[in-house]
Amino acid sequence: MSVSVLVGVQWGDEGKGKIIDVLTKDAGMVVRFQGGNNAGHTVEINGQHFVLHLIPSGILRAGVPCVIANGVVVDPVELVKEMNMLKSRDIDVSGIQLSTRCHLIMPWHKLIDAFKEDSAKGDKKIGTTKRGIGPAYSSKADRTGIRGGEMRDLVRFEKHFRDNAEAYNREYVPMGGAKLDVEAAWKEVLAARDVLVPHLADTVVTINEANANGVHVLLEGAQGAFLDIDHGTFPYVTSSNTTSGGACTGTGLPPRAITEVWGVLKAYSTRVGEGPFPTELFDEQGEFLREQGGEFGATTGRPRRCGWLDAVACRHSCMVNGVDFLAITKLDVLDKLKEIKICTAYKIGDKTVTTFPEDVYDLARVEPVYETMPGWETSTTGILDWNSLPVNAQKYLKRIAELTKSKIGIVSVGPDRNQTFRV
Ligand code: IMP
Repeated sequence: MSVSVLVGVQWGDEGKGKIIDVLTKDAGMVVRFQGGNNAGHTVEINGQHFVLHLIPSGILRAGVPCVIANGVVVDPVELVKEMNMLKSRDIDVSGIQLSTRCHLIMPWHKLIDAFKEDSAKGDKKIGTTKRGIGPAYSSKADRTGIRGGEMRDLVRFEKHFRDNAEAYNREYVPMGGAKLDVEAAWKEVLAARDVLVPHLADTVVTINEANANGVHVLLEGAQGAFLDIDHGTFPYVTSSNTTSGGACTGTGLPPRAITEVWGVLKAYSTRVGEGPFPTELFDEQGEFLREQGGEFGATTGRPRRCGWLDAVACRHSCMVNGVDFLAITKLDVLDKLKEIKICTAYKIGDKTVTTFPEDVYDLARVEPVYETMPGWETSTTGILDWNSLPVNAQKYLKRIAELTKSKIGIVSVGPDRNQTFRV
């Protein structure tokens, strides 16, 4: 029995999709446990480019059952679109299981997300993806949400849908929110519901039974530790637990079932949306990372904010996640650099700290303290083993391991599935 969890160690966009795809080779089941279609997991296979938002990246390996578990918020219309996209590319989606306990993102959630984001001023803006994620989790927490399983009983589902849709119009339209066309929205949701009902399952049982039967289960996280609702840079976070603890509540697997935690860490830092980002670069160096790394959001297309690796933040995140192994991605993006910096401490006023501040206002005013390392100034994109890496690249990776108190398990040197090696 073995269960691996894979999580993002930074602000998301670490390249989790690709690492999941690589780890899926040894997995018998892949499970998404939190978030929704705010995620954008990119995988390249022999020049073919796939972007997945909701369906576990494991779907790209034929025969691996994929599960969307209870901790996920699911937009039925978008899920069906993603299934159709995969079908049109000859990927079999018939085995996808959707938790009866997942919460549904309904049309009004997207309108509320956009309304709140567009009317927020200054530092009140979060920079959300406007996919309705926060409002759907709010409905879960205030117990008005609709769960996936309700779609089975059409009469009950339609009543719950219409009651909530009308409540939205009553409450939000007078405040300036967009009016929801309830009939059009229902038609669209109904069509998606008809496709999804056969996929509904008690996935808590599915996953636990697979584990009990010796199937290797891979739990796929989305976003990253600093977007975690509890452990991230609140309020500039998403609305779920993106850290490894969320994998238990989000699947129904008990904590002791988890046998290893993989943390995906990009060789530098990026962030999309608002919120403090201590190592952000505003100069041509930042521009270089954005261009070289193709740092534009897979979900919204927004340019990502870029900066040097922040080892203070990553060490904290590895601690919270209990990372056993790091998968370091996009090492090749640094290939041309003469020098590479790593943030090893923060200055706050006249104090130097090596721990991650718990308050976002403190984080916003820290000054990063950098250590400078020589670059390797040679291409790593064709390298497939540790010993062939340039010595300076090995030194950089070893320093990351040392600073984050973690072991390196995988290195990725390009977007393709094959440009990856185990350490
Ligand atoms: P939400 O998840 O759409 O509510 O957005 C909240 C914050 O999380 C915003 O800063 C988003 O840009 C960020 N975010 C959400 N999903 C992702 C992701 O998959 N990668 C990176 N950032 C994300």
